[in-house]
Amino acid sequence: MTSGCRSLSLRTLETQNIALSAAERAATFLKLSHAPLRNSPAAFHTVYSLMKTNLSLSPAAELETECLVAVVLDRAEKDRAEKNKADPDKADPDKADKDKPEAYVSADKATEQAAADLLFSGDLTGKNFEIAWLHKPVGLKAKRLLLIGGGKSKKFSASDLRKLAGAAVRALKPRTLRSLAFVLPDGIPAEEAVKAVVEGAIVGNFDPDTYKSDRKNQSVESLTVVATGDQTKLKRALDEALILAESQNLTRELVNEPSNRMTPTILAKRAQQMSKETGLKCEVYGADKIKELKMGAFWGVAQGSDEPPALIVMRYEPAGAPEKPVLGLVGKGVTFDTGGISIKPADNMEKMKYDMAGGATMIGAMRAIALLKPKIKVIGIVCATENMPSGKAQKPGDIQTAMSGKTIEIINTDAEGRLVLADGLCYARQLGCTHLIDAATLTGAVVVALGYANAGIFSSDDAMYQRFAAALDKAGEKMWRLPLDDEYKDQIKSSIADIMNTGGRWGGAITAAMFLKEFAEDTPWIHLDIAGTAWMEDNKPWIAKGPSGIAVRSLVEFAREFAAPKPHD
Ligand code: BES
Ligand code: MN
Ligand code: ZN
Repeated sequence: MTSGCRSLSLRTLETQNIALSAAERAATFLKLSHAPLRNSPAAFHTVYSLMKTNLSLSPAAELETECLVAVVLDRAEKDRAEKNKADPDKADPDKADKDKPEAYVSADKATEQAAADLLFSGDLTGKNFEIAWLHKPVGLKAKRLLLIGGGKSKKFSASDLRKLAGAAVRALKPRTLRSLAFVLPDGIPAEEAVKAVVEGAIVGNFDPDTYKSDRKNQSVESLTVVATGDQTKLKRALDEALILAESQNLTRELVNEPSNRMTPTILAKRAQQMSKETGLKCEVYGADKIKELKMGAFWGVAQGSDEPPALIVMRYEPAGAPEKPVLGLVGKGVTFDTGGISIKPADNMEKMKYDMAGGATMIGAMRAIALLKPKIKVIGIVCATENMPSGKAQKPGDIQTAMSGKTIEIINTDAEGRLVLADGLCYARQLGCTHLIDAATLTGAVVVALGYANAGIFSSDDAMYQRFAAALDKAGEKMWRLPLDDEYKDQIKSSIADIMNTGGRWGGAITAAMFLKEFAEDTPWIHLDIAGTAWMEDNKPWIAKGPSGIAVRSLVEFAREFAAPKPHD
């Protein structure tokens, strides 16, 4: 009797649930998921200020810290093994270079002194990510000294330093250590170095294991950067780095969510929440508006899903910004890509939850832009939808009319990213954007071409590309430019419509970009294909396996530099 009642009430509940619209379900979930979960701060834990950051201008020796971190570099020009081979006296490993250590601690005298024996022994050579712990280091007030290898001193860059800071944090995480003080090495301008350390540390502090019931929060809670220089300037560099890295982590957090917890509606709610927190205007439109705007390419993808699509528009319009330029950031927000009717094989399909990474990138970038306040108008657009097979789904052979009026023959429903972006780019132009950047996990072909180390970058405008390349350098992110010659256009010519949505087997990343170019038209435009780089396949010493947050920092650096008047402008 009791059990009968129970199942009855359960059934009632289920029926009620079914009666809820997808949007209402999303809203309910959103409410529920804000409640703390067992051993986890919240399903949607916010990343903001998880790590306290401070600046210290006092000598490293004076710092009372759980863990002082210093960088070990190798000043040898040549490879050690090679050198020893060349010198017969040193062929005996016992004699090899023992008299003259070439690895050194790039810090102050006291720290160097504390590590002298370790270095002299040759146990630590300074090679990349090599680690040694020293307890109760002589002459230092720190409880421990963590020495971390940064490779050859001649080649050592801010980008290496960023990774070392991440690696240091990731070395601390599994231990019970919750704070560190990082001594800036020589050779990198102090402000740049502070920025690199803070960015690296915060990125390294992120782990994507939020759904493990026995998850222990191992986050490092406090970072002190030990530097010398102008306090005001260093503090500014630190604050900026904090914004950049936390925004990158917001993107990673969004990308990490599975598609049942990151529907287009939820993604839109997260964008609204972020916008509210940072003072951005944010509008979210549904199917009606998408149809009203005649976004036939976007709707062609969205029509196959029961989950409603969302067109997310975030506006940053600071007082005092010039009318032009207006930067448009357009992201692919496919919250799950089954391939549609041209369905993907089952193997690895679960990974397609990260197909909204381009959209999440733009949400993260807009957050940083809102907080850093460059004097430039920026509009962020995310085209969010699922790509599903269903009785309502578009089919190969269908013809869709894009917002721009161009007709598209759908050859493969799995080439959906370019469809949603076609209308996103067109809409950005309609809203007055004078420069466009899109980011998308667009093609498997870019992974074939460039692997996991470089994202693909395409541009219709050399000057804009040059400025973006400078931003990449500043952010320490890697992308490789691929061509957009007119010859490739032949591959996407359709016999019955203006254009086809696939271009055959060869040069797949390029033909996808050529398709987008048709919709960016004559507006200077950059396309970032982040299919191979938005998700880390393995753990690295400096970053966890999972969502990488690639492109967030570069986009923000680009926007800031674009806002600053250039001498030649
Ligand atoms: N989302 C995929 C691209 C992708 C592949 C992202 C692997 C991340 C990892 C995209 O929508 C897609 O399916 N592209 C097709 C295009 C093809 C049908 C022309 C592809 O790359 O196979
Ligand atoms: Mn696809
Ligand atoms: Zn896709």
